[in-house]
Amino acid sequence: MRTYLVTGGAGFIGSNYIHYMFRKYGDQIHIINVDALTYAGNPENLKEVEGRGNYTFVKADICDKEAISRIFADYEIDRVVHFAAESHVDRSIKDPEVFIRTNVLGTAVMLNCAREAWENEDGTYKEGKRFLHVSTDEVYGSLEEEGGYFYETTPYAPHSPYSASKASSDLLVKAYMDTYHFPANITNCSNNYGPYQFPEKLIPLIINNALKGKKLPVYGDGKNVRDWLYVEDHAKAIDLVQEKGRLFETYNVGGHNEKQNIEIIHIIIETLQEMLPPGDPRRAHVTKELITYVEDRKGHDRRYAIAPDKIRDEIGWEPETMFREGIRQTIRWYFDHEDWMEHVTSGAYQKYYDDMYGKK
Ligand code: NAD
Ligand code: DAU
Repeated sequence: MRTYLVTGGAGFIGSNYIHYMFRKYGDQIHIINVDALTYAGNPENLKEVEGRGNYTFVKADICDKEAISRIFADYEIDRVVHFAAESHVDRSIKDPEVFIRTNVLGTAVMLNCAREAWENEDGTYKEGKRFLHVSTDEVYGSLEEEGGYFYETTPYAPHSPYSASKASSDLLVKAYMDTYHFPANITNCSNNYGPYQFPEKLIPLIINNALKGKKLPVYGDGKNVRDWLYVEDHAKAIDLVQEKGRLFETYNVGGHNEKQNIEIIHIIIETLQEMLPPGDPRRAHVTKELITYVEDRKGHDRRYAIAPDKIRDEIGWEPETMFREGIRQTIRWYFDHEDWMEHVTSGAYQKYYDDMYGKK
């Protein structure tokens, strides 16, 4: 049985990945999920897998070298899939330090512990070991409004503390591959959406606010472009890169789905209007009147767009979920999980939300 060490598996993409992997491989794999359960880590995301004999949860900080090396000592880890990170750009602008700690130092700890466990005395590595570092297209900086894509060869030019910390962690992984021949891959992915996404990010924030009749904050002119990918398509890409990707390579993962933020907000409002049943009182307040232009994000990148040609040509991965379908599935999930939203919008998250947007 192959054993995976997943970091940050209680977060948005990590929990979707764990569900996907159990759907695909069932009892053929063991997943150990190590997560510090920050504000973004929610054990509720994994309640369906908690009882499985081949799922183990370890609450630990990836910066804690002792805790991480103990996991490598206790289990024969075959694959690492490293998601754990501080992931929200606005938070990084307010408080960069925790991003440097988790994203840079935490990645260094993961690399060191894996290397110590996997390296043979002659500098080669035990058979079949692979480390996948999950990263972002934001390391490439910002594109012009007209034309151009991010390729694996695009120079790094991060702008926010978040993207600078992710770029640093990518460079560490590259340095370990170059220096120690460490068996790794990097994936750089565009914006994800789907179930279990914390409502500080654009899509779940807009769905949640619209359903509650709260204002829909649009940064700047609303014309910044993101390239949206359904999260399950990302989970598939990560699995395929570990199965079929060439070691030491970087693969860009993207949705071929560029949209301005304001378009996204219009689509969500229209879809909510279609999906709310007749007689549902929320139909009255889910309208474009809620759209409110607010101060722009500092250093706001204008446009992201991935060219996922390499992963298509080498591995055969392509995005499968059309945006209109993905957004319906996402909204359906949030309709069916109102209790999940209630739980995550209380406590620590609520305080952050109030600091960011005021108590409206
Ligand atoms: P998330 O914020 O939803 O989840 C992060 C998880 O990491 C949480 O469970 C949190 O508890 C855990 N974590 C944070 N600090 C930790 C620490 N010190 N030790 C252990 N666990 C810790 O993030 P996400 O959106 O699921 O993103 C996952 C990864 O994918 C990140 O590396 C992010 O940079 C990358 N990524 C995200 C997107 C996106 O659109 N969300 C796109 C491309 C790449
Ligand atoms: O591109 C990949 C990245 O996508 C990931 O690496 C990050 O972890 C992830 O958070 C995401 O970053 P963004 O900054 O693009 O996502 P966010 O959902 O925060 O914002 C998307 C766009 O919407 C961005 O242009 C800012 C804008 N926005 C966001 C919020 C929260 C608004 O206009 N209003 C808002 O309230």
